[in-house]
Amino acid sequence: MNTEKVARRAVPAYDVAGIRQDFPALHQQIHGKPLVYLDNGASAQKPRAVIDAIREFYAHDYANVHRAVHTLGARATQAYESAREKVRRFINARSPAEIIFVRGTTEAINLVAQSYGRSALREGDEIILTQMEHHSNIVPWQLLREQAGIVLRVVPINDDGELMLDELEKLLNRRTRLLTLTHLSNALGTINPVRRIIEMAHALDVPVLLDSAQAVPHLPVDVQALDCDFYAFSGHKLYGPSGVGVLYGKQSLLEAMPPYQGGGEMIRYVTFEKTEYADLPCKFEAGTPNIAGAVGLGAAIDYVNSIGLTAIAAHEHDLLAYATARAAEVTGMRIVGTAREKASILSFELAGVHAHDIGTILDSEGVAIRAGHHCAMPVMRRFGVPATARASFGMYNTRDEIDVLVAALHKAREVIR
Ligand SMILES: Cc1ncc(COP(=O)(O)O)c(C=O)c1O
Repeated sequence: MNTEKVARRAVPAYDVAGIRQDFPALHQQIHGKPLVYLDNGASAQKPRAVIDAIREFYAHDYANVHRAVHTLGARATQAYESAREKVRRFINARSPAEIIFVRGTTEAINLVAQSYGRSALREGDEIILTQMEHHSNIVPWQLLREQAGIVLRVVPINDDGELMLDELEKLLNRRTRLLTLTHLSNALGTINPVRRIIEMAHALDVPVLLDSAQAVPHLPVDVQALDCDFYAFSGHKLYGPSGVGVLYGKQSLLEAMPPYQGGGEMIRYVTFEKTEYADLPCKFEAGTPNIAGAVGLGAAIDYVNSIGLTAIAAHEHDLLAYATARAAEVTGMRIVGTAREKASILSFELAGVHAHDIGTILDSEGVAIRAGHHCAMPVMRRFGVPATARASFGMYNTRDEIDVLVAALHKAREVIR
């Protein structure tokens, strides 16, 4: 990374034009109009630093990790383990042993459900989740319920899309074995008061899993300060590649958990009678991992650090406030998710216009948003809508782009009366 550039970026003025120059995909026309990419909640575009890191790795340093005695194998292992160290520092974990590379948030949660869940939970034990979870933090627990006879309890949300903490208080009890919740809702934009929630759970010795798929690109995080027990996120929403993500777990918990999958890399010794497993983190990384993906994620973390999550969060806060105010000008607009603490996501419906039609009309104007249930059907049901349109902002978006979004929404309003 060019350190001169990094130093220039560290000054308070947020250089959004400079940042945009780093993202090749942003500079294209869609249906003859400049692309306005507002689908960052689904996946973010990649800076040149990430694209180059992956290309360079494949061009010069690629081999399998951990097993080779040759130079390329050593270089690949070094690159892979250095990416793990970058993740450790990024979330302030105590040790690289606590950083497990997985495919993404979905796999991280399934790992905890199948390994921690099946080994530590018994019939009648309870897991608390919330009404605002993504399907990937619902279905793995339902699978566990079928396998182990556990009970799922759901924290409701109020009309603004905030968790009802008094209800959580009532649900926590001596049978609760885990609380699992999203840090930032992908369908509503709500930032949950996770520090307080973790304290409530820990008062009863209940471990907490945070689904931080949405939070990690927008909010600085320190897993030790939060004292969360598990923390899951995906590389692709953090400006890194798809197919790689992270499960953080406290070392004592991970050590007590059985492997999630069996195969190469995760063993120390194998006979037909008995197998000894490798130490952390390899115990949970069976098979050849997504090596280049991890390298790309490391480059994405370097890039995000070069701008600073505090600066990114402030910029996105301004975008959300501006977009919320401007959206109110559109006739028939109803914002779904009006929590006091929100980030980066504007979910809405336009009276009389189906979300998919909004998405299609906006695409013809070059504006990319998401339309649908956002893999959060219980949220849609809670608010009585089949789907919403969702604009989600990233570090490279601008107020001008929000103006284009609002103009396109007026157009959608006119086209469908
Ligand atoms: C809150 C939340 N959790 C989990 C996921 C799943 O992430 P992935 O598909 O990368 O595994 C998403 C993806 O949109 C999400 O928004």
